Amino acid sequence: MQSLSAKNIIAISGSLRAGSSNHAILNYLDKITPVGTNYSIYDGLAQIPHFDPGLENDNPPTAVKAFRKLIADADGVIICTPEYAFGVPGTLKNALDWTVSSGSLSEKPLALITASTGGENAHAALLLILGALNAKVTKETSILISFIRSKMDGDGNITDDAAVEGLTQVFNTFLALL
Ligand SMILES: Cc1cc2nc3c(=O)[nH]c(=O)nc-3n(C[C@H](O)[C@H](O)[C@H](O)COP(=O)(O)O)c2cc1C
Repeated sequence: MQSLSAKNIIAISGSLRAGSSNHAILNYLDKITPVGTNYSIYDGLAQIPHFDPGLENDNPPTAVKAFRKLIADADGVIICTPEYAFGVPGTLKNALDWTVSSGSLSEKPLALITASTGGENAHAALLLILGALNAKVTKETSILISFIRSKMDGDGNITDDAAVEGLTQVFNTFLALL
């Protein structure tokens, strides 16, 4: 019998910037989340300590424990991130490194959105990283949106029709996997 309990989505922005376009995208997805599905934007990325393989097993730092549990308990995870210096933002990569041995993302439905000026390198690197973490991410649940700043207005509304359509499609495919 199918479970009647509400599905939980955790959304993570790879940008810590106030007024971030990636955060605005996550706010847009919140607005189109169907009634009966819980959607939360994780805001603790900056509090996760630097990855230390010597600390991770017996007694990981509190913020790490909480992050791992949040991910493990979620039915699906959304990552929405810019690219910095041709790579994955350090804070995001750091958080993902803590999930390698915990396996928190294994078999987890995941939508990957890279929204950046270019973003090709971070997008490709994340697909590789998420593959190593055994997250359930596919071509249909990932999207690269380049020139993101020119596709938004000053209030964080997405003004580009193709971007809205692409995001909605990825989100709906992701929702169907939960
Ligand atoms: C230090 C720094 C390095 C950046 N490097 C890249 C880059 O290598 N590739 C890219 O596509 N965008 C790069 N950008 C531009 C970001 O993609 C752009 O600022 C984006 O809007 C950031 O996302 P946010 O609006 O969510 O903060 C860089 C921005 C900063 C501040």
